[in-house]
Amino acid sequence: MHLDDNNEEFRTDILKGLSNPIQKSVPSKYLYDNRGSYLFEQITVQPEYYPTRTENSILEEYSDKILQNIPKEIILIEMGSGSSKKTKHLFDTILKRQDKLYYFPIDISFNFLDSVVTDLETQNENIMIKGIPNDYINGIKDCNNILFENNFKFDSFSRIIIFFGSSIGNFEIDEARDFLKAVRLNMNDKDYLLVGFDLIKDQFLIEPAYNDKAGYTAQFNLNLLTRMNRELGCNFDLREYVHYAFFNKEKDRIEMHLKSISDQEVRILGYDKIFHISRGETIHTENSYKYSEDKIQRLVIRSGLSIEKIFSDNNNWFNLVLLKPC
Ligand code: TRP
Repeated sequence: MHLDDNNEEFRTDILKGLSNPIQKSVPSKYLYDNRGSYLFEQITVQPEYYPTRTENSILEEYSDKILQNIPKEIILIEMGSGSSKKTKHLFDTILKRQDKLYYFPIDISFNFLDSVVTDLETQNENIMIKGIPNDYINGIKDCNNILFENNFKFDSFSRIIIFFGSSIGNFEIDEARDFLKAVRLNMNDKDYLLVGFDLIKDQFLIEPAYNDKAGYTAQFNLNLLTRMNRELGCNFDLREYVHYAFFNKEKDRIEMHLKSISDQEVRILGYDKIFHISRGETIHTENSYKYSEDKIQRLVIRSGLSIEKIFSDNNNWFNLVLLKPC
């Protein structure tokens, strides 16, 4: 089996995560390989998964209002762009006020990004698209470099950096603050940040969204084991794990785990250590924090940003928050 050198970071992260005696875990960014990105797209259209359609409805209704207060020509940068579907509302609204739009989708799922960019390019001749295959912060830096190299005059544009999908909720609260601070450091005074936050609500509404009946979320979660087997030469037996997601009320977060249904010994190719996983033990794969307006306010203030405006849906399930540097 040939193992890619690029997987060194992956291997190091997995070794660390599986070695934790208190709670085994795997960083959630590894969920998004090509198949993971495909499965995630399926999750977003499941009837139980309310965040995507709710955020989409806010964009559909308020795109005009969101952009109203931004007089300058707009450049769009999107962190974790995935299928870029929700962004279409902004494209349409922006192209009513300017002839051309520069759009930089940033995503770590390189092949997926490639195919999305190709599709978008054929559909929209007035959008200049440059896909950035990178993580969020390095991706923004890449955009800044490209704009700089092409002699863009920064003070004649407003950049809107978008972060949809309540992906902010996939960070720990302190990580979210550090992350927003890092984004802020790469912004100018005239730039804006548009962030989607899923709000705290009854657990009977939240939990089904992470346990869809068709089983896409389970497949998405289990795909992590397939990926570790393929890329790191692990020996996870997929029949011995089940998807397990629940709302942790104390922490206002959905926790996603892979639960082992038997005692197992797991190894990583080229590494001597054996990891014991006992029956009922879990590997923690993702959190999805839910926010209140208060929590959003506190997070934002500590990040050097201020709230320009909040847009919400009729049920007040989801907030789209327009932020600017302060
Ligand atoms: N940002 C999404 C969320 O928190 C990510 C997500 C949705 C997700 N469903 C998932 C991540 C299932 C892992 C597994 O809602």
